[in-house]
Amino acid sequence: MQKTAAALFADSADEQILFLDALLAPEEKGNAVVWTGEERSQELKFVPRAELPGWTPGFIDRMAAGEKPGNTDAYKQGQLYSLDYSSVLTGSPLLQLAAGDNKPRFLLDLCAAPGGKSVLASRILQPELLLSNEVEGKRLGILRHNLKRCGITNAFTQKLRPADWADLAKSGFDLCLVDAPCSGQSLLAKGTDNPGCFHPSIVKGNARRQLRILNSAAETICDSGYLLYTTCTFSLAENERVIEKFLRNQSEFSAVQVPHLSDHLSPLCQFPAYRVYPHVSPGAGGFSCLLQKGTGESREPVPESLLNFPVG
Ligand SMILES: C[S@@+](CC[C@H](N)C(=O)[O-])C[C@H]1O[C@@H](n2cnc3c(N)ncnc32)[C@H](O)[C@@H]1O
Repeated sequence: MQKTAAALFADSADEQILFLDALLAPEEKGNAVVWTGEERSQELKFVPRAELPGWTPGFIDRMAAGEKPGNTDAYKQGQLYSLDYSSVLTGSPLLQLAAGDNKPRFLLDLCAAPGGKSVLASRILQPELLLSNEVEGKRLGILRHNLKRCGITNAFTQKLRPADWADLAKSGFDLCLVDAPCSGQSLLAKGTDNPGCFHPSIVKGNARRQLRILNSAAETICDSGYLLYTTCTFSLAENERVIEKFLRNQSEFSAVQVPHLSDHLSPLCQFPAYRVYPHVSPGAGGFSCLLQKGTGESREPVPESLLNFPVG
C-alpha cells in the first residue's frame, strides 16, 4: 500500500523515498503562527523571514523547531494562533482573493473547529460576516474558545449540517471554506498515529462525505463567489477525484489558478489544484483547490435566525 501511494505522489524513486521518510520518520519542523494583532512576542524563536516565501504576509511567521507556544503569555492573551505550516499554504489562496477586485465579505467556514482557517480567513479578509460552523458539539466549544481567545468576537458560530446550510442560507455567502474531514494521512508526518488512514474503505468513506459537503457548500455561494476546498491528506480519491466529480455535477463552478502556489501544482488533474508535501516544504502536507461560481445569481441576505450565537 505504501509503495502504491508513494508511486502516485512522487515522480522519481528518490522522491518516493523522501516522501515515505517524511511519513515514517518525521522531523519536527516548527508550526506557523498567525498574529492576531500588532504585538510580536519575544517568548518564542522564529525562522528568519527571508526563509519564508515572498508572498507571506507580516502577520504570519514560522516558529523554530521545538518551540511550543501553548504556555506563553502571548498565547494566553490571544496574540497568536498556532497551526501547521501546511495550513498556511493550503489557506493561502485567500491572499489572492484579498488582493482582488471581488474581495469576499460574507464568509461561511463550514468545517471550522478548532478554528485555524477561521482565524486565518478573518485576518486575511477582515470580512463583514464570519459564520464558523462545526457539527461536533465538543469541537464547537473549542472553536468558540479559540475565536474568543484570538479576539475574533465579531464572528458567529453554528452547529448545523452542511445540507442545512444549503437549505437555510442559499446563496448567502461569497466565500465558503470547506476544510474537509478526511483520512488525515499527513498526520503521520507530525508523528501522530493514524491507523487505517491509507485503508481503501476509510478513503472511500471520506471521499463520499467530502463530495456531499461540497455539493451543500455550493448552494451557499452567490454568483462570482468562491469555495476553497482543503484537506490534510494525500489521497487522490479525497482530493483531485472529489473535485473532478464535483465539477462534473456543478458546471457553473471552475477551478481558479493560484500563481504563488505554482511550485505545488498537482500533476494529477487537468485543473489547477495544489498539493503540499512534507518532503518538499515545512508542514505535514495537504491539498488546496480554489473554485469560483459563475451563474448570474446574486447574494441573498443571511437569515437573522442564523446569527443567534455571537462569539463576543
Ligand atoms: C479538518 S477539520 C477542520 C479544521 C479547521 N478548519 C481548522 O482549520 O482548524 C474537519 C472538521 O469537520 C468536521 N466534520 C466532521 N464531519 C463533518 C460533516 N459531515 N460535515 C461537516 N463537517 C464535518 C469535524 O468535526 C472537524 O472539526
